[in-house]
Amino acid sequence: MTMPNYVKIVEVGPRDGLQNEKAMVPTDVKVALINQLTDAGFVNIEAASFVSPKWVPQMADGADVMARIQRRAGTLYSALTPNMKGFEGAIAAGADEVVIFGAASEAFSQKNINCSIAESIARFAPVAAAAKEQGVRLRGSISCALGCPYQGEVPVSSVVDVVRRMRELGCDEIDIADTIGVGTPVRVQEVMRAAAAEFALDRLSGHFHDTYGQALSNILASLEVGVAIFHASVAGLGGCPYAKGATGNVATEDVLYMLHGMGIHTGIDLEAVVRAGDYISQAIGRANSSRVGRALLTKWAAASDAAPACV
Ligand code: HMG
Ligand code: MG
Repeated sequence: MTMPNYVKIVEVGPRDGLQNEKAMVPTDVKVALINQLTDAGFVNIEAASFVSPKWVPQMADGADVMARIQRRAGTLYSALTPNMKGFEGAIAAGADEVVIFGAASEAFSQKNINCSIAESIARFAPVAAAAKEQGVRLRGSISCALGCPYQGEVPVSSVVDVVRRMRELGCDEIDIADTIGVGTPVRVQEVMRAAAAEFALDRLSGHFHDTYGQALSNILASLEVGVAIFHASVAGLGGCPYAKGATGNVATEDVLYMLHGMGIHTGIDLEAVVRAGDYISQAIGRANSSRVGRALLTKWAAASDAAPACV
């Protein structure tokens, strides 16, 4: 298998990242972040969640965010939709893609969306049917594909089972998500290969949280089996409110640096993403978790200190 020469990065910071902030992030800040990410060249940005505001209050302003962002033709703005109420909200807000999100672990399904895996599929069915009817792109996300905070080990067969069910619902893309970042490369390859036996490899994505520092290695391992879509979060923002101790997604800046260094194209301007990462870290008063972001910001600051003063 040769490595892909183009990779699609789905920027999930505005959703997966900001959903986990303790303090409420002002809508203006979310909008400014998404606009900066749009300008950086992403073709897909996960911008909002249409979930219960009692469960995830941080995402309650999704409709406002979607209404106020400046959209760019060629960029898809996605939204999480656990049920028909969420779907209706997302469509009214002009989402280009809706995301149904299930799990490969029963325990996590209960904690995250308050129902069993089978019940979740039943709730997703009308969402999927409505998305197809309205010509909206449909993505399926599978949490805990590499391990579960409540159940521990998750068999590959459980992941494959949900991949199959999401394929049957008509998903255009399916995410293999390592919610708590416990996966390691050989296991990741095993899961990706098994998923690819059920679903088109070029529409499978890797969504790796970096809790155990394995995410870049897991992306490289996935590239080796031909996966060419990855999720990442600017400045490494995030976690999951229903997975205690889970840290953010792999930082977008770090993924871009690795891919560009390998000669793999993304169409994204790394420097613009570093600036967006600096913006959001300062705006919410959080340390920037991107190694590449910190390195480049330090280098730029040193270069500007050394520059002769303009006269
Ligand atoms: P429930 O309590 O079982 O649902 O929650 P319900 O249908 O009984 O409704 C309860 C209340 O919520 C009602 O309001 C509904 O109207 C309201 P009340 O009558 O009490 O005032 N409600 C809604 N409000 C707004 N939008 C909606 C909606 N649905 C119901 N769509 C539910 C079930 C799924 C709604 C709930 O569990 C929920 O919202 N969970 C959110 C979970 C979540 O957002 N988790 C984080 C995102 S997933 C993630 O981060 C993982 C991922 O990144 C991949 C990975 O890393 O693993 C994707
Ligand atoms: Mg996630």
